[in-house]
Amino acid sequence: MDPKQRGKILITCSAGLVDYVRREVKDLGYECGESHKTGLELQADQYDAMRLNLNLRTAYNVLFLLKKFECSSPDELYCNVAELPWEEMISAHEYLSVVSRVNTGHVDNSMFAGLKVKDAIVDRIVRQTGLRPDSGKDRNKVVVQLYWKDDLCRLYLNTSGLKLSDRGYRKMPHTAPLRESLAAAIIMATGYDGTEPLVCPMCGSGTLAIEAALIAGRRAPGLLRNNYGFMHMKYFDKAAWQQMRNEALKQSKTRGGKAALKPARIIATDIDPQAIEAARKNAMTAGVSHLIDFDVCDFAATVIPPGNGTIVINPEYGLRMGQMQKLKKTYKRIGDFFKQKCAGYTGYIFTGNPALSKVVSLRTSRRLVFYNGNIECRLLKYELYAGTKNKQA
Ligand SMILES: C[S@@+](CC[C@H](N)C(=O)[O-])C[C@H]1O[C@@H](n2cnc3c(N)ncnc32)[C@H](O)[C@@H]1O
Repeated sequence: MDPKQRGKILITCSAGLVDYVRREVKDLGYECGESHKTGLELQADQYDAMRLNLNLRTAYNVLFLLKKFECSSPDELYCNVAELPWEEMISAHEYLSVVSRVNTGHVDNSMFAGLKVKDAIVDRIVRQTGLRPDSGKDRNKVVVQLYWKDDLCRLYLNTSGLKLSDRGYRKMPHTAPLRESLAAAIIMATGYDGTEPLVCPMCGSGTLAIEAALIAGRRAPGLLRNNYGFMHMKYFDKAAWQQMRNEALKQSKTRGGKAALKPARIIATDIDPQAIEAARKNAMTAGVSHLIDFDVCDFAATVIPPGNGTIVINPEYGLRMGQMQKLKKTYKRIGDFFKQKCAGYTGYIFTGNPALSKVVSLRTSRRLVFYNGNIECRLLKYELYAGTKNKQA
């Protein structure tokens, strides 16, 4: 396989994030093709795939299309897959896993379809080399992905391997952490660019603050990872990858060729000392602990730097019975805190509970929809001028 051969790339993401992925892909200089709720296509080669893996903050996986074919039985699937020159792509000493998503009447379950694909690949490599590659469920080496819908199969190489949202810095997750890709999209949605302070009370494991620090420092999130699916392919060009990494590092040192300035202050607080301990360690692993001031305190005691800035708060939105009364009080206090202590700032609340957001009693200037897993959430925006009016005013 020639890694310079252009083909169709599908970038997958969680529901609600495709507009953010598109923005990132365009910023990297690519033309975007078709998109749907959880994916975006473009034409590119394997080097572009490496670059996308290195830079994308809001995506899950970068998939390279190997073959698209009509298929109406498991045997047809096997034959189509076995026609590809797998021995040129995958060493017999590699480990392989197959992910399959099936929505067709031609097969009972996706596991069986995945097994057929795996057998076709492994049998072909055995025929060509006399050696049998290892295979299993772990997605940290070669990953092949099958989508079978009705009579159509699409077979991809998953160049990311593990999801890009698994950046590798969250060694210590705390209560209900946001996925890194979602946290990055939330920060992007606020328009934050590092020039003004950012405050994250209730920071939990620090995901929002850490993603903000990576964005402000123009630091490619992929620099944090040293394992991708593409690295396990025969054609992997290690020198080109190293050069891409070096360029990304240089960019982050000069903050994207702008000024080698330190971003404005990022403040992250939480009432739970264990959360702050976790957040500190995570920020250290991410290489951004010098950019974030951590503190243990009630959110309302968070020090707000004077002037303008952004405040993003992700309170619990407890869907369990009995929590609502307590949380109502907390949301009411958040409204008071915004009004009394955050004048000049733009405030954001990320919540999955519309009933609780009403208690904040401030006028929202924007409400953006996101999905946290399968919970529909809102990012609520509040302009906090001096003397901000409450809803009733
Ligand atoms: C939903 S979690 C935040 C998760 C975070 N966004 C992350 O990605 O890890 C809510 C956090 O609010 C904190 N919290 C709850 N009540 C608080 C209060 N009164 N003051 C400050 N923090 C509080 C909890 O300790 C918890 O870490």
